[in-house]
Amino acid sequence: MPRLVIISNRLPITIDTKDGELFYHPSAGGLATGLSSLDKDYDRIWVGWPGKIIEEEWEKPAIVQSLKGGGLVPVFLNRFEFEQYYEGFSNKVVWPHFHYFTQYTTYREEYWDMYQAVNAKFAEVVNDLIQPGDLVWVHDYQLMLLPKMIREKHPDVSLGFFLHIPFPSYEVFRILPWRKEILDGLLGADQIGFHTFGYMRHFLSAVYRIVGHEHSFGKLTLGNRMINVDVFPMGIDYEKYAHPENHIKENERIDPERFRKGGTRLILSIDRLDYTKGIPERIKAYELFLQKHPQYIGKVSLVMIVVPSRSGVDQYQELKSEVDTLVGRLDGIYGTFDWSPILYFFRSFSFADLTALYRAADIALITPLRDGMNLVAKEFIASKNESQQGVLILSEMAGASDELTDALTVNPHDANDLVDALVTAIEMPLEEQSRRLVSMQEKLKIHTVKDWAERFIVEQTEMAEFRNYNAKSLAVGSPERELLLSKYEAAEKRLVILDYDGTLMNFHNDPQAVVPDEELMNLLDALKSKKGNKLVVISGRDKNTLEEWLSPLGIDMAAEHGVWIKRNDKWKASPNLFSSWKDDVRPVLQHLVERTPGSFIEEKDYSLAWHYRKIDKGLGEKRIREYRDVLSYLTANLDLQVLEGNKVVEIKNSGVNKGKATMNWLNRKEYDFVLAIGDDHTDEDIFKTLPDNAFSIKVGLDQTVARYNLMSVEDVRSLLKDLV
Ligand code: UDP
Ligand code: G6P
Repeated sequence: MPRLVIISNRLPITIDTKDGELFYHPSAGGLATGLSSLDKDYDRIWVGWPGKIIEEEWEKPAIVQSLKGGGLVPVFLNRFEFEQYYEGFSNKVVWPHFHYFTQYTTYREEYWDMYQAVNAKFAEVVNDLIQPGDLVWVHDYQLMLLPKMIREKHPDVSLGFFLHIPFPSYEVFRILPWRKEILDGLLGADQIGFHTFGYMRHFLSAVYRIVGHEHSFGKLTLGNRMINVDVFPMGIDYEKYAHPENHIKENERIDPERFRKGGTRLILSIDRLDYTKGIPERIKAYELFLQKHPQYIGKVSLVMIVVPSRSGVDQYQELKSEVDTLVGRLDGIYGTFDWSPILYFFRSFSFADLTALYRAADIALITPLRDGMNLVAKEFIASKNESQQGVLILSEMAGASDELTDALTVNPHDANDLVDALVTAIEMPLEEQSRRLVSMQEKLKIHTVKDWAERFIVEQTEMAEFRNYNAKSLAVGSPERELLLSKYEAAEKRLVILDYDGTLMNFHNDPQAVVPDEELMNLLDALKSKKGNKLVVISGRDKNTLEEWLSPLGIDMAAEHGVWIKRNDKWKASPNLFSSWKDDVRPVLQHLVERTPGSFIEEKDYSLAWHYRKIDKGLGEKRIREYRDVLSYLTANLDLQVLEGNKVVEIKNSGVNKGKATMNWLNRKEYDFVLAIGDDHTDEDIFKTLPDNAFSIKVGLDQTVARYNLMSVEDVRSLLKDLV
């Protein structure tokens, strides 16, 4: 079993002091409670902050020592770091921003500086401790720069990142001044996980728009690395909540009946004191419920457990007084000597208390305004395993609502919706309660926290081994690369066919940036000059551009996917081409451009191309779908073909393709070594044309008929250097 190195801001235990003595208690919050359940299944160490500022240096070694046995490694924060990294950047910038509370986002450069510094501090501890074969797993929003920092030190380590909070829509994320750095930090991981598909979509969209990396089914290719982005909804330790008695000492067990008084129906809510949890909105909705449905006065009680959290942050302090006021007001209006509408507790509860409360409650009222997942909702459902009675009212803004579809879902901003849900819940027949509970329990039994971690780890491990379909990697040092090099050296007549864009040069929105650079020109020159080599560039670009850029090399070329062939210094057009069709097709493409600002038409001698590189990828693909039928209809009648390339659709005479172009060289001479490299769909025609023993190389990880694979333009250049 490989060692699992977990890193999170908060350790699963928190240090406290009482009468000058240090003691430890379990940390609250979904991350700590969820991951703690994995203890028995993994050989793990856990690096994190022990939850208290230790002022005295001399106290630290004893703490380090006492945590060591439990596999815990503390990272101590001083007061300054605590204020600027934890309270500051983590909880006054990222937390509100990612939960759509942009009015609370504090833009302070010194918070950002400290966030970087403390991430680096974690990196220092972790980097010293990583051993070969470890699986490293970084958690949550406080440590988003850490994956990159670990990757720099350990390029080959298997590294995952999981975000426990929402990832906001691109329109919100883009507001952050440090958006690019945050994405770069996260992209150091091999795998990035989210609770819901919505968060994953938002992240991929931000990555595309801000740092320009496109994904294919959640896979991002960055240079020679691939990153898996996926949805892993976190579960709970189902058995622990279904049978809490097995985890509680006999003398600490609590009879749930203790909480039921005089037949009142218990409505339960449990949250950390956090503005994302919708606590004031909930109290107000409950008041409206009593107002609109006075028949329930005296018959229901709201037990509201609020766990203290982040008390140094202004908004949390303000929230505390708002909640106190609302509770007091409600009690003042409706309370009697024998009945209180709300029982409010501002403290944390033991596992024994919590599970007894879950069992006793008739209704769980869980109405966050935004919540990454919300484990309390799941714990409530699991705790009902025995009794099969109880109703979950759940905010549609909680990640858990994607899975718990048999809950009564509500919009937490809509007080009337909450009121109606409360009435429905109170009146719900027992059979319906049971049916809904059982259906949700079935899901939670399967998707436990253990299963969550296993799935994450299996996918992360597979990432390290991922190779493109049948194509074998030509990575430096691989046996395949050695074979290629030895065959190349041994051959006397070699044909080397290279695509241009995406193979020799990276794509770029700026046309200047794709002009061949000096390094490339020197490389191609050396390759061409090597005895026995025939070098050919086959491109979709027009002949004039290729001529302007590459003619100093004196090499053969094919332009417009083979419309034009240059051999022995002369350009020749393929026979039987005509361009009269352009007048029929051009208006369709012009219409496309009018509807799609930022796209443009390129006119070549015998082709028309519609480029959508600069616009939103989704919009470009939508337009292609819309116009595919029109274009196919037009082109079928005119003996044309439609080629879909990388962010370009090209219309040209049928019968022209890079495969046919390749034949111009393959047919003429006996070669004892053939190599072709390309990245695009249109290069597949080259690969298909080559003899079986040729070395066909696809750049990137898409499906291909090529035999080999390289990850990036940089990798192609490195291989070409080996050939000169
Ligand atoms: N919890 C706790 N002590 C309490 C109240 C709650 O340990 O007094 C736990 C609760 O059982 C749950 C976690 O805190 O596992 C809260 O996780 P959730 O995902 O609901 O919200 P978060 O606090 O992570 O935003
Ligand atoms: C949420 C976050 C966790 C955090 C927890 C408690 O669950 O996702 O990262 O640990 O809240 O917050 P705290 O600031 O006390 O660690």
